[in-house]
Formats: sequence, structure tokens, C-alpha cells
Amino acid sequence: MKLITERLTIRDLCEADYPEFERTLNGAQKSAFGSGKGFLRWILSQYAAMDITHGLLSFGIFEKATEKFVGTVGVGDHDDLHEPEIFYHLLPEYRGQGYAAEAAGAMTEWALSRLPISHLIGTVDTENVKSQLVLERCGYRFIEMRPLLIHVTNERRDFKVYRYEKSVGRYLCKIASLEEMNAKWAYEIAHSGADRENWIVWKERNIENFKLGRSIPYYGILNGTIICEATAMLCPEIVQNSDGLVDAHTVYLSAFRTVGQFHGKGYFSKLFRFMLADLRQKGYKRATLGVESDEETNKAIYAHYGFTEFLKSGKEQYPDGTVIDVQYYGKSLE
Ligand SMILES: CC(C)(COP(=O)(O)OP(=O)(O)OC[C@H]1O[C@@H](n2cnc3c(N)ncnc32)[C@H](O)[C@@H]1OP(=O)(O)O)[C@@H](O)C(=O)NCCC(=O)NCCS
Repeated sequence: MKLITERLTIRDLCEADYPEFERTLNGAQKSAFGSGKGFLRWILSQYAAMDITHGLLSFGIFEKATEKFVGTVGVGDHDDLHEPEIFYHLLPEYRGQGYAAEAAGAMTEWALSRLPISHLIGTVDTENVKSQLVLERCGYRFIEMRPLLIHVTNERRDFKVYRYEKSVGRYLCKIASLEEMNAKWAYEIAHSGADRENWIVWKERNIENFKLGRSIPYYGILNGTIICEATAMLCPEIVQNSDGLVDAHTVYLSAFRTVGQFHGKGYFSKLFRFMLADLRQKGYKRATLGVESDEETNKAIYAHYGFTEFLKSGKEQYPDGTVIDVQYYGKSLE
């Protein structure tokens, strides 16, 4: 098995991964098979059957850029609830960069599409807020608080139980890849009208900004089709009237679009909240956006999202010279 995400590779473990893999194990895992190596060999022996009812599937997470071992992610049978569950473990030096959510999201999609299961659960100690956020960012829904038995120590502790249903699991929010951007821009250009030339210029600019790390495009993908997008602009050079709209702690949000037939179904909100959670996690403290002065519905939607702090008005120019009146609003991400 091999999955490739924006920054990670997730693949079958092998014996050569051992020294680093051992660092993810607790005492019970090491002793269960005589040693950490014994535990790794047991994991390798599980790949052929792909049976998570009687075993588990655990994979290695590797940083794409460095090929270094980052941690493990997998699915198995919850030993107390006996439901399919997701688990993940990152080495300490790789925490706090969104890798857990990137890996858990990809694992969830993979498991639900490849294994005979209709849902996954995630159980997190009530005090482990970071791990709860990982599940929430992957679209897991909080179900209940439950005292669960920890078999190793034979004690019961309170856990938060989360659940991800296959049916709702077909909508995925993620940072776009270059390939996905090319597909989406081709769609937008094909569906443009008299302003086609603007869309061609916007495509070039957006792809260049992405390649230079000046912007982050977020996509909502339904059953494999890109239906929503929003872009976070990180540098003043690429934002018109940028004063007060973008700096080291302030991100400017733009290019909000849902494909027509999917309007009003909540897809954009899911993407928007995913984007804000990601930006918050990247350290941004404030977000700003602009709305055309006469777009009352959009203003109401943004106010609903908390963008009520009026910042200023300004004029923006499209590539073809069209000038529009824009009002800018902001909100704290803290
Ligand atoms: C703006 C746009 C991206 C919203 O996408 P969408 O998928 O229809 O939005 P959603 O269905 O997720 O709804 C957005 C949120 O606004 C809320 N909302 C909708 N209409 C509202 C209104 N009139 N007043 C207040 N809130 C409103 C919804 O309840 C939802 O919030 P919730 O999830 O908390 O309930 C979409 O209408 C679009 O693509 N418009 C054309 C392009 C555009 O105008 N882009 C913005 C400028 S770049």
C-alpha cells in the first residue's frame, strides 16, 4: 500500500524502518511480541490478509521531502468497543505541523474505500485536545464521552468517541495539489464567458503564487470532483489594497467558489472551517476578506462566519481593466 499526500508518503512498513519505528511503541507493544522488532514483524505479517477484524493494519508515515520516518497511522479493531478504529502516532519532533491530520485524513479515505467497513471510530483521551482536533479536522463527528477499558493497565478512563461515516465521508477538504489546481482552473476557464481572458490570467497568477509559497488553495472534493475552493493569500505583493489586509499574522482569504449545482448545501462552510482551522494551526491570528459592495448575500454569509469588523473600502482591478468597489472585513482567529 502506498498513499501520497501533499507532504507525506504513507506506505507499508519494512524491517529497514526499525530503529525509528521502535520510538513509536509503548512498553506493552514491545513486550507483547518479545521485542519491538517482534512487534514490527507481526505488523508486516498482517498486510497480506488486510483483515482488521482479527488484526490491524499499521503503516509508516514518511516526510516526502526528506523521506524521513515521521510516525505510524493505521486502522484496527477497537479492543473494548470492537468497532473499526483509526489510530496514529507521530514522533515528537514532527508534531504541530498538521501531519497527523494529513495522514489520518488520507488513511480514513483509503480504509473506507478499500476495506469492508461502513464507518471508522476514533477514541481520544478527554485531555488530549490536540488529537481531538486532528479527528475534527478530518471530518470525524464527536459522538459521546465514554469510560473505556485500557487493557494494558486494566483501568477505565474517560474517552471522547468520534465517528466517521462512509456516506458523508465522500466529501474531502484538503490543500490542493498542482494537478488538482490545473483541473479546477481548466473547469473555470471552460465555464467562463466574455471574461475568459481574466480567468486565463488568474490561472497563471494563482499557480505561480502557489508554487512560490505565497498562497494556499483549499479545495472541497465530492466523490472525486472538485466542487468548492477558497484561497489564503499570505503575502502583500499578491493582494490588491493590501495595507492592513495581510502581514505575518494576518491572512487574506479570497476566491470563494462552489460549483453552482452544489450551492446552499453546506459544502463551502465545511471547506471554510477546514481552512480557518488549518491557518490557525499555522499560526495566523487574524483573517481578512473583501466583498463587492453590492453583494448583500455574500456580506451576510461572511458576517455569519464572524467577519463583522469593517476595515476599509477600496477599488480592485481585473486583468482586463474592469474596476470593482470592494469592502474589506476582518476577524480574529484566536
Ligand atoms: C459564496 C459561496 C462560495 C457559498 O457557497 P455555498 O456552498 O453555497 O455555501 P454553504 O451552503 O456552505 O453556506 C454558507 C454558509 O452561509 C450561511 N448562509 C447562507 N445564506 C445566508 C444568508 N443570506 N445570510 C446569512 N448566512 C447565510 C449558510 O447557512 C452557511 O452557514 P452554516 O454552514 O453555518 O449553516 C457560493 O454561493 C458561490 O460560489 N457564489 C458565487 C461566487 C461568489 O460569489 N464568491 C464570493 C466572492 S469571491
